Amino acid sequence: MAKKYYVTTPIYYPNDIPHIGHAYTTIAADVIARWQKLQGKEVFFLTGTDDHGKKIAQAAEKAKLSPKEFTDQLIPKFKDAWKKLNIQYDRFIRTTDPDHEKIVQEILQKVFDNGDIYKGEYEGLYCTGCEAYYTEKDLEDGCCPIHKTKIEKLKEETYFFKLSKYQKPLLDLYKKNPTFISPKHRKQEIINRVKEGLKDLSVSRAGFDWGVPLPFDKDHVSYVWFDALFNYYSATREKSKQKFWPADVHLIGKDILWFHTVYWPAFLLSAGIDIPKTVFAHGWWTFNNEKISKSRGKVINVDELIAIAGVDSARYFLLREASFGEDGDFSEDALIERHNNELANKLGNLVSRTSALAEKYGITKTDKKLLKKLKLKEIEKNLEEFRTDKALNEIFAFIDVCNEYIQDKKPWETKDKKVLNELVEAIREIARLLSPFIPESAEKISEIFKSDNIKKAPILFQKVEDK
Ligand code: MSP
Repeated sequence: MAKKYYVTTPIYYPNDIPHIGHAYTTIAADVIARWQKLQGKEVFFLTGTDDHGKKIAQAAEKAKLSPKEFTDQLIPKFKDAWKKLNIQYDRFIRTTDPDHEKIVQEILQKVFDNGDIYKGEYEGLYCTGCEAYYTEKDLEDGCCPIHKTKIEKLKEETYFFKLSKYQKPLLDLYKKNPTFISPKHRKQEIINRVKEGLKDLSVSRAGFDWGVPLPFDKDHVSYVWFDALFNYYSATREKSKQKFWPADVHLIGKDILWFHTVYWPAFLLSAGIDIPKTVFAHGWWTFNNEKISKSRGKVINVDELIAIAGVDSARYFLLREASFGEDGDFSEDALIERHNNELANKLGNLVSRTSALAEKYGITKTDKKLLKKLKLKEIEKNLEEFRTDKALNEIFAFIDVCNEYIQDKKPWETKDKKVLNELVEAIREIARLLSPFIPESAEKISEIFKSDNIKKAPILFQKVEDK
């Protein structure tokens, strides 16, 4: 039986069309999913949308639509964006899907029955943008530390989840599974905060109906994060998908690490469900060194991203420019530069020169000496541990080696079929390794070098003029 692999993205709030931040996690998940498939694994790749909650209800109201109509209208924009970016997900889940709502209710009931949910009253500071409560000390000038917007004071009857009870089990989990919170440098902050103590968490809202009703009190709906996090699990409840639980990795942005490494495992522990292996948080993109912000026009959506230099170059840029796990700065110039220098010059030239010479002089079998210079083990390890940028660096270091090899051996003078064969074998492997990152171009390269009867390649990456 093939080994299995389960990778997820966050489910995005469908309150606007997807932008580069959403695209980033989704592309990264697609790369990981494609890579794991290349390793022969049976892969389940889940993405979707987080349709419930106050944030969506408010956006819908502003658009003068019901929340359902409002989200129904935005979901195709997400699906369309993922299609354009060549994302091969297996399921697009919405928290309004009946199978998901049913599972959330079953779990709420279970957690209620085992005594981890109780009724109380809550008075607190709520940020609708985050769908989260804050304490006075979290605030910056009375505003949300993430959104910099005013915070609402809320007082209401609510059901609490006994998060405080899970402090020790969570600390044990972090110890027992050192890669649960990844990358490493983000771990200590979470551990420190958990050590400071955990307050019970309000997990229901009354007087508000855009959510999953609590099965034991229909006047309340489930807190949006309780509902949302369980998407990862509910997508694996149909028979053919059950084997995929627990997930191998939840890829997320650093801003939602707390929800995924504290609330999520605590809910799972309470419900008696296995804990996923890894939650990996990537960094944030700025746009020309400024925070991405719709209100200030500093936002780049998926169509704009693709328009710069094509789909593959956008995918390539995002995964090479920033170290995965760290912040990065996006600029059109930087993307164009990588497109021109790395994809068009380095990779494109290697492919076009080699194919032209192979067409002219032919190739003969050799012992693949050039390929031995490829650091395959390192590339594999980097990809297993989500260092996509490091993997690309190694692949491109090898492309440099191949270009130097041509320069050195001058097959256009020597007409050496063995040298050309070395290059052809190397390019076949490069195409395989690049296929998760730039699937369309890699497929074209593989096609060109598929048989030993090679024809000169057309131009793969047209250079883009700097603006
Ligand atoms: N709905 C929740 C997630 C629930 S998962 C059970 C949510 N949605 S979101 O649409 O606001 O954000 C989704 C992801 O986009 C987050 O991982 C966030 O980090 C990412 N990004 C949003 N802006 C970003 C950048 N500027 N750069 C990189 N990623 C960013 O949170």
